[in-house]
Amino acid sequence: MKTIAVYPGTFDPITNGHAELIRRASSIFPAVVVLVSGSPRKSPFFNTEERVGMVREAVDLCGGTIEVKCFKGLLVDAVRECGAHIIIRGLRAISDFEYESQMALMNRRLDPAVETFFMISTEDHAYLSSSFVKEIASLGGDVSTMVPPGVEQMLQSRFSRLKTEKRGGNK
Ligand code: COA
Repeated sequence: MKTIAVYPGTFDPITNGHAELIRRASSIFPAVVVLVSGSPRKSPFFNTEERVGMVREAVDLCGGTIEVKCFKGLLVDAVRECGAHIIIRGLRAISDFEYESQMALMNRRLDPAVETFFMISTEDHAYLSSSFVKEIASLGGDVSTMVPPGVEQMLQSRFSRLKTEKRGGNK
């Protein structure tokens, strides 16, 4: 049976750090499913369809057998529905470890068959986060080396629309 690894996240938006991890995972595991969280826990800036669309575009550039799905509810249930038992999570810095280890232990308690694999980010992406990317883009900074081209376009058009709306609202 094919070993399927699941890479879950909010991807608000997907960054080159996430894409790099997906690429590396797909060179290790025969199949990778990227699970985009549809839960409102983080009140994402981009809606679920937009985030799934951006992830799909980014993984098309990665090669390999990669599927993109959206999930709601418990991650362990979604992992099982994918026919998988491996969750991949990225570790950028030691500060990620506390939250990630808690999540891995909790997921194991919910489903002892689920195993979490951690992959260390490359130095280039160790400081990247979706929040930083949004903040930089909102202030007109260059994010072209941080996100896939389609994401950069989405950010630019969203922030220029918001600016126009704000200007209109201030009249
Ligand atoms: N490159 C760039 N950024 C990275 C990264 C990488 N390799 N790895 C993590 N990040 C950043 C993300 O950009 C994000 O930044 P932000 O906080 O600025 O937005 C942050 O790290 C964490 O995001 P993400 O990896 O998307 O994880 P998450 O914490 O948003 O999502 C879920 C975690 C969806 C897996 C988790 O909430 C979940 O399982 N939800 C389902 C409900 C459930 O089962 N709960 C019980 C869990 S124990």
